Amino acid sequence: MAASEDLETFLVQAGNRTDEQKTGAVSTPIYFSTAYRHAGLGESTGYDYSRETNPTRDVLQQTLSTLEKGKQAFAVSSGMAAIQLVFSKFKSHDKIVLSDDLYGGSFRYFADLHTNYQIDFILWDGQDQQFLAKKVNDPQVKAVWLETPSNPTMKEIDISQTVATAHQHQTEVIVDNTFYTPIIQRPLEEGADIVVHSATKYLGGHNDILGGVVVCKDDKNAQIYERNLNTTGSVLDPFSCWLLLRSLKTLTLRMEKHERNARVLVAALEEEPAVKKVLYPGRGGMISFYIRDEKDVDCFLRALNVISFAESLGGVESLITVPSIQTHADLSEKQRKKKHITNDLLRLSVGIENSSALIEDLQQAFQKTVTARK
Ligand SMILES: Cc1ncc(COP(=O)(O)O)c(C=O)c1O
Repeated sequence: MAASEDLETFLVQAGNRTDEQKTGAVSTPIYFSTAYRHAGLGESTGYDYSRETNPTRDVLQQTLSTLEKGKQAFAVSSGMAAIQLVFSKFKSHDKIVLSDDLYGGSFRYFADLHTNYQIDFILWDGQDQQFLAKKVNDPQVKAVWLETPSNPTMKEIDISQTVATAHQHQTEVIVDNTFYTPIIQRPLEEGADIVVHSATKYLGGHNDILGGVVVCKDDKNAQIYERNLNTTGSVLDPFSCWLLLRSLKTLTLRMEKHERNARVLVAALEEEPAVKKVLYPGRGGMISFYIRDEKDVDCFLRALNVISFAESLGGVESLITVPSIQTHADLSEKQRKKKHITNDLLRLSVGIENSSALIEDLQQAFQKTVTARK
């Protein structure tokens, strides 16, 4: 089934009819077995050992691959494990262009790759295609890595345009699609080569699964990653695969509500005197905003009763983060300043609660900062 035609039905039905020969189970069975019995020499059910393949993981991976319009998906133990799997095919002295506003943990990993394995990274603002064209002209540049919208400053990058520039020189385009999910954006359809997710975020959606996903669209990459994943072993465990499959059934509903709530909150925050500036790309459930006075941040966070001050995003519960001391703490102060990630910047992952309750929570917390200052 084409995922873009009817995502709601496709996702709700994910896993159903996968066990018809045995029990007819509507919910995909969880196969905990790590070993699979052979009838005799040279005979296999197709399953031998769980690091290689697992029936529950297979169902999840097929669902993810169809959802992102890929050839093959790999479900791994975290978003960082997904990023590591993608990088497992690059070699020393390869160069990678990075959009300059990424998850802080990705920067930390890339810094280690540079120091330990001499992989070089070139920062790009995500907008200047002429700059990109010059860089990809170098045959050592193997890929462009981007996040759109960017984290935490919510800039959108034109995927199709980036692909057009990069593919002129056979440079691959890799997109971290964690923030928008395939409900909003399917990079492979726009020509990108590989998609990565922290499934810990919207795909999992309940702040209770740590997971990652890589989806690629050509056989060559699929074969490389299948081999490398079997070698390194960072596969997602069967229970988390099942939980993630269950989460996907409500992904369309959740994304609709996240976005609806986000739009209402953006309007309220733009009217709020304690807020200097709101950053929202117009889609999705993530908002960043600058609070007028940095000194109020602690008081504001302590006063929140519904929204939790916690370091993640994409779950049904609203979470608020201070990127400068949490997600982007590993960047130097100078780097953060350059990216406008200052101590007065807050990132709000809008949950699926009642939007009025969220607005009331924000307003009463802002009011407490005013009272505390008097
Ligand atoms: C955009 C993005 N990519 C990747 C990651 C890493 O994912 P994980 O925490 O699941 O390892 C994160 C984590 O916050 C993220 O926000």
